[in-house]
Amino acid sequence: MPVITCIDDLKRLHKRRTPKMFYDYAESGSYTEQTFRENTSDFAQLRLRQKVAVDMSGRSTTSTMIGEKVAMPVALAPVGLTGMQHADGEILAAKAAEKFGVPFTLSTMSICSIEDVAEHTTKPFWFQVYTLKDDDFMRRLFERARAANCSAIVITVDLQIMGQRHKDLKNGLSAPPKLTPASIANMMTKVQWGLGMLQTKRRFFGNIVGHAKGVSDPSSLSSWTAEAFDESLDWGRIAKFKEMWGGKVILKGVMDAEDAKNALSVGADAIVVSNHGGRQLDGALSSIRALPSIVDAVGDKIEVHMDSGIRSGQDVLKALSLGAKGTYIGRAFVNGLGAMGEAGVTKSLEVIHKELITTMGLVGERRVADLDRSNLLIPKGFE
Ligand code: FNR
Repeated sequence: MPVITCIDDLKRLHKRRTPKMFYDYAESGSYTEQTFRENTSDFAQLRLRQKVAVDMSGRSTTSTMIGEKVAMPVALAPVGLTGMQHADGEILAAKAAEKFGVPFTLSTMSICSIEDVAEHTTKPFWFQVYTLKDDDFMRRLFERARAANCSAIVITVDLQIMGQRHKDLKNGLSAPPKLTPASIANMMTKVQWGLGMLQTKRRFFGNIVGHAKGVSDPSSLSSWTAEAFDESLDWGRIAKFKEMWGGKVILKGVMDAEDAKNALSVGADAIVVSNHGGRQLDGALSSIRALPSIVDAVGDKIEVHMDSGIRSGQDVLKALSLGAKGTYIGRAFVNGLGAMGEAGVTKSLEVIHKELITTMGLVGERRVADLDRSNLLIPKGFE
């Protein structure tokens, strides 16, 4: 077993252990992948201000996100098909998050269902919904999330229309995977993955299959997906979903200060500055670059969270310094999951936590709430 010291180590193991189709699904962005690349490279443009001879004993990363205590302000982002990176992936990731003390967000497009995750965890998790045309189905999803004791709904607002990822089309991405000579040959080399998949008792796409009209098995899912997403989504409809749910709502996918003000007016409890990890609008700004203007516009009235591009505790520190109250990791935890299952997700959280608390000490801050722009050296034109 190689020594794992950073997220990149987990990414290498993930690539080795998971079928190409699913590794590529995680590690790609839409079209030219410009936004995908800049999500990470723009973090590197922000430099940290070193401070010395400050009492750094007793540092803590604890904080809150939407009023919930967190061991560090880093939630697991909703990631579709997590259960294809490793058998029972959503359950394993939720368990790791719960033990670590950070929020877990279950995607609508997960393999394991809301009920599967609830059965294997004890604390409330968050449930992410895409906004679909069928109100009855949306209402039933909310009822199931309520019955599972979910403490918040994350409404993703940036995927009414799907950005194209070239590799997914070329690989013929599907879950369960289509059996072609190439996919079989590739899967034969991923023994642990295959054994896990053979043993899982989960129903694929448990939030949808058997619940949405006309979807009785995963093979009917792609035609359902093409029809189900609501291209006519507007702020009125988002407000309606907030009312339907009746609890805390986080709006994910806001990249514009005017949209952030609209989110405020529909009564969202938090927004996530996110470009979906560079998987939707190619050519959009990186999230870290979009963050400051949104914090300036609404940061004193609503919690602003951020994701896309976080691969280290230093990145988390930079986002918090620019005014994010919380952050999310997507690929960073998926790399851990694909590499080593639950232990890998725990490892990715441990790596990021250690980097965060160490870097806090080196920039002279003991509490995450004290981080601000004065901890950064921000290049001209960044904001
Ligand atoms: C995602 N993301 C996502 N978002 C969402 O709201 N619902 C979903 O089902 C998915 N599915 C999904 C699959 C995969 C493989 C990835 C990588 C991402 C976006 C996700 O929640 C988050 O915004 C990004 O992953 C953040 O970027 P990083 O941390 O991966 O760079």
